[in-house]
Amino acid sequence: MLTYTLRVAEIRQETEDTITLCFKQSGLKKIKYLPGQYLTLIFRINGRRFLRPYSFSSAPGIDQYLEVTIKRIMGGVVSNHIHDQVKVDDLIEVMQPLGDFTYTELQFSADKQIVLWGVGSGITPLMSIAKYALSLPNGPRVSLIYGNKNFESCIFLDLIHKLKDQYKSKFSVWHFHTRLKIDEENPSVIQGRIDQSKVHAVMNKIDDHANTIHYICGPVGLKESVKEALKGLSISAECIFSEDFEIVKNPKDFEGIMTQVAKIISNNQETFVEVVSGKSILEAGLDAQLELPYSCQTGNCSVCKGKLLTGKLKIIGIEKISHELKPDEYLLCCSYPLTNDVSVLV
Ligand SMILES: Cc1cc2nc3c(=O)[nH]c(=O)nc-3n(C[C@H](O)[C@H](O)[C@H](O)COP(=O)(O)OP(=O)(O)OC[C@H]3O[C@@H](n4cnc5c(N)ncnc54)[C@H](O)[C@@H]3O)c2cc1C
Ligand code: FES
Repeated sequence: MLTYTLRVAEIRQETEDTITLCFKQSGLKKIKYLPGQYLTLIFRINGRRFLRPYSFSSAPGIDQYLEVTIKRIMGGVVSNHIHDQVKVDDLIEVMQPLGDFTYTELQFSADKQIVLWGVGSGITPLMSIAKYALSLPNGPRVSLIYGNKNFESCIFLDLIHKLKDQYKSKFSVWHFHTRLKIDEENPSVIQGRIDQSKVHAVMNKIDDHANTIHYICGPVGLKESVKEALKGLSISAECIFSEDFEIVKNPKDFEGIMTQVAKIISNNQETFVEVVSGKSILEAGLDAQLELPYSCQTGNCSVCKGKLLTGKLKIIGIEKISHELKPDEYLLCCSYPLTNDVSVLV
């Protein structure tokens, strides 16, 4: 996988727990990306290598810097490291941009309206898509439906206001807040979560449902509510895209999976690792300090692909298995050993 080294040009505080890292493009090897893709940041923390993907909040061709926006996660290794240690002028190693949660004018005709559904830090790829699509001459109408606790936790609030002023006839925004008392001072805010009935209420205000494409990024509950409501409005699955920042595992899927020892062959070296019940082969390898390739850990990027040589694995957490995988290839971030003779080649 191609890697680059980028210099931090600026760090912006967005909300109390969220910052944006702005990277300068390198003069020689420019990074190309699509709106909605993500950049994988690589850090060495206490001797161990950590990789984490962050969606671009910048838009190609519009923003001067490559920007990623990071929310501090309680107890999180990398998000806290970024918030507490990264400074302007630091050099950070990154992987080439990845991801298929993208919008380009070539994918859809201009009469397709874009509807963006986001909660909290899920706004990042949606902002990249919104900025890009709104800037297109004769480009599509864009609607943003954005859930937060209150205005203080709303990332990019000023930018959203600015875009609304700039693109009055093309850009509509609905804010949903769970912790705000709605009164005359906040007429454009709807109280509560974005649930199915609220999706219907918003969609009633958007004309021509058949001509809408939808991008969803946020917690599982948001994805399920929006998808279910859109199904009821007969919007086809090909027009609905979603991005997961983490997999929420269902404990039922782990019934019958026990702690096993597995063999990982990487860089011509064989290592036996204990795969504690509930951990993936990738997690077990990383815990054993193996420097294995990975990025998303949600079954999206295929970077963690390995070849199963012996034994049986169970795939957990992926809705669709990539058609690019051969029958003996597995995504190790979503693979769990069913037998005690598993060996994989990375
Ligand atoms: C495609 C993709 C794009 C992403 N884009 C962004 C982005 O633009 N901005 C951003 O802030 N993050 C984004 N993430 C999440 C990010 O990659 C990290 O997972 C997150 O920063 C936590 O990493 P950590 O090392 O701090 O936490 P870890 O040490 O990995 O995890 C600590 C605990 O936090 C939980 N956790 C992990 N991720 C989250 C989360 N997102 N929300 C709540 N709990 C979590 C874990 O289950 C674990 O219990 C994205 C993830 C993916 C897969
Ligand atoms: S790390 Fe992305 S698919 Fe496994």
